[in-house]
Amino acid sequence: MSFDNKVAIVTGAGSGFGAATARLFAARGAAVVASDINLDGAEQTAAAIEQAGGSAIAVKTDVRRSEDMQALIAAACDRFGGIDVVVNNAGLGHRAAPMHELSEADYDLVFDTNTKSIFWSVKYAVPKLIERGGGAIVNVASIGAKRPRPLGAAYNASKGAVATMTRAVAAELARHKIRVNAVCPLASETGFFKTTGIEKLSDKARERMINEVPLRRLTEPRDVANAIVFLASEQAEFLTGILLDVDGGKGI
Ligand SMILES: NC(=O)c1ccc[n+]([C@@H]2O[C@H](COP(=O)([O-])OP(=O)(O)OC[C@H]3O[C@@H](n4cnc5c(N)ncnc54)[C@H](O)[C@@H]3O)[C@@H](O)[C@H]2O)c1
Repeated sequence: MSFDNKVAIVTGAGSGFGAATARLFAARGAAVVASDINLDGAEQTAAAIEQAGGSAIAVKTDVRRSEDMQALIAAACDRFGGIDVVVNNAGLGHRAAPMHELSEADYDLVFDTNTKSIFWSVKYAVPKLIERGGGAIVNVASIGAKRPRPLGAAYNASKGAVATMTRAVAAELARHKIRVNAVCPLASETGFFKTTGIEKLSDKARERMINEVPLRRLTEPRDVANAIVFLASEQAEFLTGILLDVDGGKGI
């Protein structure tokens, strides 16, 4: 799976799934734009890529903001001459609570970060992908988009919107040879948990979750990175509108 001469943007690349994905694209030959609201994290990812002999820049982006997303696409095109792959990964959860206990601010933060960000990304990246003659967009949804659980309703709904947007935009963009797919990961002990108010899973909670997974572990960032890089690759040239579960079989 080669991404030589390709340019990949990864949002939320300063941590977790995004950092692993950015590094894997670089290892497969892509020039990588590591974007995050946390510039330190993005810089660490870009530095690790450069140290390994790859090519990367770090860009500070708040994916909720139109101007930031426009600037991200412009930075990628200025530095690397265009874009081929966009991974919309930046996202967060809300504190574990029933929906009627969430504030408007909780709701808006989750929807703006997880869902509106993809509107901005599509709006500004697609013209550049069309200029290149095609490309791939991979969105990070969640298993919660398909199988919501209690205490995460707004989060699950925001990812449900990501899943529907993925399929709808895939249908719109196929004529431009732009494929649009999503991954739906199961829980992973990344920075994400902190956004739900859980600093660290207790051993008991982890064991309970693992016991529900046929492959008997939680998601690792490499699982998500492998799935994203595959969906963006030429090997997936006939796949679009796919919502790929990365869940160790839990959905079965
Ligand atoms: N970890 C899980 O259990 C899990 C499961 C399913 C889906 N997801 C999704 O995976 C994606 C990546 O999460 P992760 O698990 O790697 O968590 P993470 O917290 O380790 O990484 C998320 C990154 O997104 C960045 N970010 C947050 N808000 C941003 C904003 N407004 N603009 C730009 N960057 C922003 C953070 O700074 C962080 O670096 C998210 O969309 C998340 O919803 C996570």
